[in-house]
Amino acid sequence: MLINKIGIVGGTGFVGRTLANRLTQEGIELRILTRNRERHKDNLILLPTVELIQADVHDVDQLEKYFSGCDAVINLVGILNESGRDGSGFRHAHVELTRKIIGACQHIHIKRLLHMSALNADAKLGTSHYLKTKGEAEDLAHQAGAQGIKVTSFRPSVIFGREDSFFNRFAELLKLTPLFFPLACARTRFAPVFVGDVAEVFMQTLRDPESYGHRYELCGPKTYTLEELVRYTAECIDIKRRIIPLNDILSRIQATMFDFVPGKPFSTDNFLSARVDSVCKRNGLHDFGITPVAIETMVPQYLARRSQRARYNQFRSHIHRNHTA
Ligand SMILES: NC(=O)c1ccc[n+]([C@@H]2O[C@H](COP(=O)([O-])OP(=O)(O)OC[C@H]3O[C@@H](n4cnc5c(N)ncnc54)[C@H](OP(=O)(O)O)[C@@H]3O)[C@@H](O)[C@H]2O)c1
Repeated sequence: MLINKIGIVGGTGFVGRTLANRLTQEGIELRILTRNRERHKDNLILLPTVELIQADVHDVDQLEKYFSGCDAVINLVGILNESGRDGSGFRHAHVELTRKIIGACQHIHIKRLLHMSALNADAKLGTSHYLKTKGEAEDLAHQAGAQGIKVTSFRPSVIFGREDSFFNRFAELLKLTPLFFPLACARTRFAPVFVGDVAEVFMQTLRDPESYGHRYELCGPKTYTLEELVRYTAECIDIKRRIIPLNDILSRIQATMFDFVPGKPFSTDNFLSARVDSVCKRNGLHDFGITPVAIETMVPQYLARRSQRARYNQFRSHIHRNHTA
């Protein structure tokens, strides 16, 4: 299948920016739809073959208009938190939007769809609204396969990279928490996968008929408990904290309390997702000859750079205060 132009929804985020970089290296034209062009333009408009378009991605007419002329569509939309608590926000962003994207593809005869899901996503057995709705959306995408669209989906464990919200977030939280760090779901196992490997597998499957109808799990080379990952984060930023693993009941209580903190740094839905191990049965990266990058080769560098930047900013504001005092 010839693929020269791709429409992307959710392409302005952490994964989307890396993927856009990778696809433009192949000279593929990208039309990235965003709900807020102004906020994202600095990150993407410098890429040579990218068109960043302000759009209401929940409006099918706009999807059709902007996907028109594309050979494929990539759906990367995902949210970890909703404003309410009944799952309707997750359903809107994951299931309803996927249904609209598929509808638009069918109407304007786009024959290729890459869909981003998550490990443990399951419409019936998912333990949280996030995992249930991600599972339902992934099933919907594959049902479109029966109507002539060639669909491939991806189910990563947690994804790491310079701008990730996993190691960077824990680094921030560790700095904010003096002495003791109470950690929910500390025993859950993860196999962090590098964002560059995720982008590579998207690139390779795009034109590969063998990948049609497949759901690829994506993992890094090693598994760790959450406690090990948080300890490692503390080591990388060179701070000492006593990590206190919380049992199931205390983890739930912590999540319930954080539900009411603005921005929900950890929610009951996150807790319900994080209770299950996020590890691959079969790592899809190997099917494409990709050797997964280990956290140890990347994370220390970008966390250290971040700490240096923070110290420099602190130093500058200290100088500024002394000058203006
Ligand atoms: N990061 C991970 O560790 C991880 C792990 C497993 C699976 N995944 C999946 O990978 C995908 C990409 O993750 P990411 O880390 O790149 O996420 P991200 O940085 O949060 O980006 C998410 C994108 O989704 C769009 N979006 C957010 N809420 C939306 C809504 N209500 N309606 C329409 N669009 C919305 C945003 O686009 P605009 O604001 O520009 O419109 C943004 O570009 C998601 O599907 C996620 O579930 C990620």
